[in-house]
Amino acid sequence: MTNSVNAMSLQDLRNRKSVKWRQFPSDVLPLPVAEMDFPIAEPVKCALRDMIERSDTGYLGPFPEMFEAFAEFSKHRWNWNADVAQMRIATDVGVGTVEVIRTLINPGDRVMLNSPVYDNMWRWVAEVKATLVDVPLNESNLDYSLDLDAIEREYQKGIKVHILCHPHNPVGVIFSKEVLAKLADLAVKYQVKVISDEIHGPLTYEPNTFTPFLAVSDAAREVGITVTSASKGFNLAGLKCALIITSSQELKEKINSMPISVAFRASLFGAVAATAAFRDSLTWLDGVIATLNENRNLIRKLIDTQLPAIGYRIPDFGYLAWLDLSNLGLGEDPTKLILERGKLAINGGVMYGPKHTSFARLNFGTSPEIITEAFHRIQKSL
Ligand SMILES: Cc1ncc(COP(=O)(O)O)c(C=O)c1O
Repeated sequence: MTNSVNAMSLQDLRNRKSVKWRQFPSDVLPLPVAEMDFPIAEPVKCALRDMIERSDTGYLGPFPEMFEAFAEFSKHRWNWNADVAQMRIATDVGVGTVEVIRTLINPGDRVMLNSPVYDNMWRWVAEVKATLVDVPLNESNLDYSLDLDAIEREYQKGIKVHILCHPHNPVGVIFSKEVLAKLADLAVKYQVKVISDEIHGPLTYEPNTFTPFLAVSDAAREVGITVTSASKGFNLAGLKCALIITSSQELKEKINSMPISVAFRASLFGAVAATAAFRDSLTWLDGVIATLNENRNLIRKLIDTQLPAIGYRIPDFGYLAWLDLSNLGLGEDPTKLILERGKLAINGGVMYGPKHTSFARLNFGTSPEIITEAFHRIQKSL
């Protein structure tokens, strides 16, 4: 039996120093940025306390135990034999992705995204001075999928890198192994490298299956680079440590050509915490998933009983609800009015894609009381 992990009280959360709790005045309920409101796993706390006790606060160097912990975790959760010899460290998933792209493109080269998609990905493409090519996801009743035909048409015109959000934030969808295999075949055919951002993978709900891109097929292993970390699954974003993983020899050499500073800019605390997370914190992770599972169903219930005009598809993973607010009568930018009138902060859909102005992303990695209050505040804004 799984013991669910409960969120901290609102009073304790308001004492947190992270951006989620500092970005807005205290009368605003903040459910935007992707941080969870749970206490972190006890093994992670112990590992960090031990570092502090021993004043072990220097730079991060070789850290094979994190690679081994991740390999074991991936084998156990996803039946993926990730190769520790092909793993590298980066500060976070954002820095890792940007640095990987730098080894693969020249400025001006075309890089693909699939909107609506995690807002920072747009900035990563700008940061490497690439030309952005957006091939929006197909959508049917808020169920989204990759548009493989449109993707092929753009691949044909020349794409150097495709940044895949897998699982896909904010729409809550996990792409199937079969679809990913087709994508990988296209990438081989048109010589596209696929960077798979798998940061949300650990938060997959059963019976859905998350297949890491490098576990999909030989073609995927030829073109794929995974960038991931413990930061979403285990709520460790502030500790700064991510993994870059390849399977092909060619891509391994590319990754090895990155400046050595890429690894040095990660944090020792991040590596220690990630190791304790992937190796020792599976019970906690299952507890969090059990709580989030209740929360995603609670949102369904709150919408059905109080705000049926909101469109919502229960997500396949994680703690992000993608809400269609277009029928609420709140105009062009519903989240602005919800903040002004209801004092609830949620991210506007336009952050994720230009056509999604009337959508919002709500973070439900919190308590049922806070979620209920959030929907009460949406109702008050009408
Ligand atoms: C898909 C995705 N990638 C990356 C990140 C950020 O990761 P990091 O802080 O490691 O850059 C997030 C954060 O929400 C995310 O949703």
